Order: sequence, then C-alpha cells, then structure tokens
Amino acid sequence: MKEIIDVLISKEELHRRITELGKEVNEEYKDKEVIMIAVLKGAVMFLTDFAKEFTGDVLMDFLAVSSYHGGTHSSGNVRVLKDLEYDLEGKHVLVVEDIVDTGRSLETVLRLINSRKPADVKVCTLLDKPSQRIIENLTVDYVGFTIENLFVVGYGLDYEEKYRNLDYVGVMRFED
Ligand code: IMP
Ligand code: MG
Repeated sequence: MKEIIDVLISKEELHRRITELGKEVNEEYKDKEVIMIAVLKGAVMFLTDFAKEFTGDVLMDFLAVSSYHGGTHSSGNVRVLKDLEYDLEGKHVLVVEDIVDTGRSLETVLRLINSRKPADVKVCTLLDKPSQRIIENLTVDYVGFTIENLFVVGYGLDYEEKYRNLDYVGVMRFED
C-alpha cells in the first residue's frame, strides 16, 4: 500500500497562524518568565516557530511520557520516559502540544505537571480535534487550528515515526 499525503494546512498558512498565535500568547507572558514545555516528539517543530514570537523571558523544557490508556484515567499510572529539567514550583508553565485528540495524553501530562506545584499552567496546541474528545473538563487555552476527525501527519506529527519533517500538515491516505 502506498502512503499518499494531501496538503491540509500549507506551510504559509502554518506560518501565518503560528505568528498570530505567538503574538497573542506573548501578551499573557510579556511581563513574566514562562517555562514552555513541549511534549516530545510531536510538539518540537511547533515550539521552535511559536517561541520566536515571544518578547519576554522564555525557558524551554521537554517531557516524554507514556500512559496506560487501558486503565481508568484517575489511576495515575504514568511512565515518564524523559523527565523535566526544571523545578516547576511557583513557575508559570505553558504546555505546548502538537494535537489534542481524545485528550488522554494531555490529561496525563497535566497531572504530572500539576504535581510539581507550578503557579499556573496553560495549554497551547497547534491542532485540536474536538470531535474525538473523551476526557471532559480539559481546558485548552490556545488552539492553532481546529480540524475534523482526520489522521494528519507533518510538522511534527508522525505515521509510524515518519513524516515529522514535512513543513506542512497533510492528511494521510492509502492507495494500492
Ligand atoms: P490523545 O491522547 O488521543 O489526545 O492523542 C494525542 C496524541 O496522539 C498526539 O500527541 C499524537 O502523538 C497522537 N495523535 C493523535 N491524532 C493524531 C493524528 O491525526 N496524527 C498523528 N498523531 C496523532
Ligand atoms: Mg504527542
């Protein structure tokens, strides 16, 4: 089966929206130091472009987790694959995500971050697929693009670890 990728959000559209979103979120943090936390690996591309719009002090940290989605979401069964470098206590934290789908990944990440007692935590995601949300009461403060229930790749997002390097977001389909 051949993997075909159709452009959903072009390089130019990404650039325009990320610049706009960066300026908007910068307003919130211009007078305070923010720790941006990118969830590996998907959010890295977005973080690097987004962070360039900030004019205040920005620290960056990276987190990788895997959760056992089979269990109840309150079980707290989170495996930290790569922990944070910084102590978050009393800090302003901005979680930067590639995509929020069911919300399970984000919920896991927020549980971990909140346990470190930050002053406040906000969430910024490049893509949001609200139709697939399972976790309710999940606050996503800033969204780049809201998309339908499509499987997308590129600009950090992968299919079997491939296509993260594309400079656009595409929809994947298979052809014989
Ligand atoms: P959630 O836990 O269901 O919200 O899923 C979030 C994670 O699943 C993302 O961080 C991605 O790694 C992955 N994911 C969800 N939707 C897509 C997609 O359309 N393409 C690629 N990865 C996706
Ligand atoms: Mg991810």
